[in-house]
Amino acid sequence: MSTPSLALPGGTWPLGDLTVTRFGYGAMQLAGPWVMGPPADREGALAVLREAVDLGITHIDTSDAYGPRVTNELIREALHPYPESLHIVTKVGATRDEQGGWPPARRPEELRRQVHDNLKSLRLDVLDLVNLRLGNAEGPQPGSLAEAFETLVELRQQGLIRHLGVSNATAEQVTEAQGIAPIVCVQNMYNLAHRHDDELIDRLATDGVAYVPFFPLGGFTPLQSSALSAVAARLEATPMSVALAWLLRRSPNILLIPGTSSTAHLRENVAGAGLSLSQDLTELDDISR
Ligand SMILES: NC(=O)c1ccc[n+]([C@@H]2O[C@H](COP(=O)([O-])OP(=O)(O)OC[C@H]3O[C@@H](n4cnc5c(N)ncnc54)[C@H](OP(=O)(O)O)[C@@H]3O)[C@@H](O)[C@H]2O)c1
Repeated sequence: MSTPSLALPGGTWPLGDLTVTRFGYGAMQLAGPWVMGPPADREGALAVLREAVDLGITHIDTSDAYGPRVTNELIREALHPYPESLHIVTKVGATRDEQGGWPPARRPEELRRQVHDNLKSLRLDVLDLVNLRLGNAEGPQPGSLAEAFETLVELRQQGLIRHLGVSNATAEQVTEAQGIAPIVCVQNMYNLAHRHDDELIDRLATDGVAYVPFFPLGGFTPLQSSALSAVAARLEATPMSVALAWLLRRSPNILLIPGTSSTAHLRENVAGAGLSLSQDLTELDDISR
């Protein structure tokens, strides 16, 4: 594995006692279609993971539900033994059904099993950060997280988890979790066109808690906006680059985990996230209005 060759845009952020690059990598797209089964190009998937680390990325987001097990096993094959600087963030709280759905699995025994499954598939003794995934495929849903979150707190006390976070959560659930134990991140859907969490992001920034947007590029439906295309054309950049640069600029506690199965896109995204946007912010901010 080579020495990181590039200073990544955005610098670093502390997740508890761990430091990660604000530019991370989301591994979900490495599994097969609709995140089920193996990738069409296995060698290509391994190459993307190695390239991420070679570029200096120290934050990889995954879940044993991707594939299931596929992305964790690719991460292990590509990168184990892991560099000390690399932090792999996983999530529990959902499983997969035969149709590729994501049924919730948040009973204490289900969560314990998922934590042990992640330890095994990633070949780790301790998971650096585990997010409790709440809600469902439609988004966050109200309701207490206490029993599920307390189960993860117990597993942390047993030394199996270093830090905790929540995902797909309402602002009330974030507050409830913080009343039970410290969290170091919230991972929710957010991008230029979906800004429901604006207030939450600002509150978390004050608390020193990271906000990690999933679907930063629109996920399965790429971001499309005439204003975004116009800004990208003016800057001679791709819309993806502008969307990532805007997120880094939006708040210092935002960490990026864009997904890609292409080393070329990965390099393009890293380079593009460093774009300077000062003149274009109002136009971009207006996209969600
Ligand atoms: N907590 C949760 O419930 C949850 C839910 C969803 C996702 N996540 C996490 O969030 C991460 C990011 O989400 P995501 O990967 O689904 O969505 P995303 O990052 O918004 O978008 C990924 C899509 O963008 C394409 N793409 C990336 N760079 C590109 C470029 N330079 N040019 C053209 N296309 C490009 C990718 O295609 P190519 O492969 O062709 O590049 C892929 O189809 C996931 O990997 C996962 O770790 C979490």
